Amino acid sequence: MTASPQRLTSSETTAVLEAAARASLPAPSVFNTQPWHWRVTGDILELSSDPERQLDATDPDGRLLLISCGAALHHARTALAAAGYAVTVDRMPDPAHPELLARIQLGAAVPPNPETQRMAAAIPRRRTDRRAFGDRQVSEAMITRLRRLVEFEGAYLHEVPQDQVAMLAIATERAAGIEHDDPTYRAELNRWTNRPQWRGDGVPPTTAVEPTPRRVAVRDFTPVGATAGLSAGDGVDKGAAYVIVYGNGDQPTDLLRGGEAMSTLLLLATAEGLATALLSEAVEVTWPRRLLRGLLSDLGEPYLVVRLGYPVSRVPLPPVPRRDAAETITTQG
Ligand SMILES: Cc1cc2nc3c(=O)[nH]c(=O)nc-3n(C[C@H](O)[C@H](O)[C@H](O)COP(=O)(O)O)c2cc1C
Repeated sequence: MTASPQRLTSSETTAVLEAAARASLPAPSVFNTQPWHWRVTGDILELSSDPERQLDATDPDGRLLLISCGAALHHARTALAAAGYAVTVDRMPDPAHPELLARIQLGAAVPPNPETQRMAAAIPRRRTDRRAFGDRQVSEAMITRLRRLVEFEGAYLHEVPQDQVAMLAIATERAAGIEHDDPTYRAELNRWTNRPQWRGDGVPPTTAVEPTPRRVAVRDFTPVGATAGLSAGDGVDKGAAYVIVYGNGDQPTDLLRGGEAMSTLLLLATAEGLATALLSEAVEVTWPRRLLRGLLSDLGEPYLVVRLGYPVSRVPLPPVPRRDAAETITTQG
C-alpha cells in the first residue's frame, strides 16, 4: 500500500521534514563546525550552507564545508527513506543563491529498505574514532559493498593498497607540517578546540588522541596547554583499511555529492560494526593533494580519506557537542 504526502496533513508533513532535519544533526563535519541550516516550507526541506562557519585557514575554498553539508543532506535523506518516504532532491537549485545547496521535496510513501533502516539506526552511534584499530582485517567483501554504495551516490572509492600507504602517510604528514607552521591555522585550530560548551560545536580535546607513531598520522586536535583525552590504545592499525572517496570534479555539486557518498560509507560501516575516522589534511594543502591524485592515477579529484577498522577498546568515546535544533532548523509558518 502506498500513501502520498497529500494524505498527510500540513502539520504532519512539517513534522516529518523537521524530524529528518533533526536526524541530520549528528552528521560529521570538519572541526565539528556543523556549517548548515535547514528550512521547512510546506512539503519542501531546504539545506543551506552557513558561510560564517567556513574555516578560512583550513578550508579557504569551502570544499570541506560542502562535503560536511553533503553528509548532513545524506543523513536527512536516509532518515526520510527509513521512515518510508520517497523524495526528489534538487541540488544547487538556484544559481543566484549558491549557499542554497539542496531542496528536498517529500514524495509518496514507499516501503523502506531494511539496509537503509539499519543505516538510519547507525546515525546516533556513528563516531569519529581517532584511536588505533586492531589486527582484524576489513574484508574485501565489505569494501565492495561500501564501494557500491559510494558509486550509487555518484562518487568513487579507491582502496589504498599496502604499497601506497607510505605515500598516503607522507602526504598527510607533509600537509600537517605545512598547516602547523601557519599561525592562522594554529589560531583556527585553537579556536575550534576551545569552544564554550553552550555553543554546541567544535572538537573537544577529550576526543583527541595522544600523538604516537601511526601508519598514517591522525590530526592533532589538542589545543595549546591541554592534553589529549584518549590514548591510541593497544592497536596499531594493522587491520585498518584506508580508502579515498573521490569524484570527477570539484564543482560545488561534485563536493556535495562527495559528502553524501562519504556519509553513506560511514553509516554502512557503522551499521556493520566497523569504526571509522576521517583524515582530510592531505586534501587541504595543494602539494599533498597532488600526491593523493597520483594515488588515484590522476583519475579523479580526492575528497577525503577514511580509515576503517575494528576497534580494540570497548570503552565508549566521550560525547561530542551538537548545536541545538532550534538554532539550525527554521520552520516557515
Ligand atoms: C569534511 C570533514 C573533514 C574531517 N577531517 C578530519 C580530520 O582530518 N581528522 C579528524 O580526526 N577528523 C576529521 N573529521 C571528523 C570531524 O572532526 C568530526 O566529524 C567532528 O569532530 C564531530 O565528531 P563525530 O564525527 O565523532 O560526531 C572530518 C569531518 C569532515 C566531515
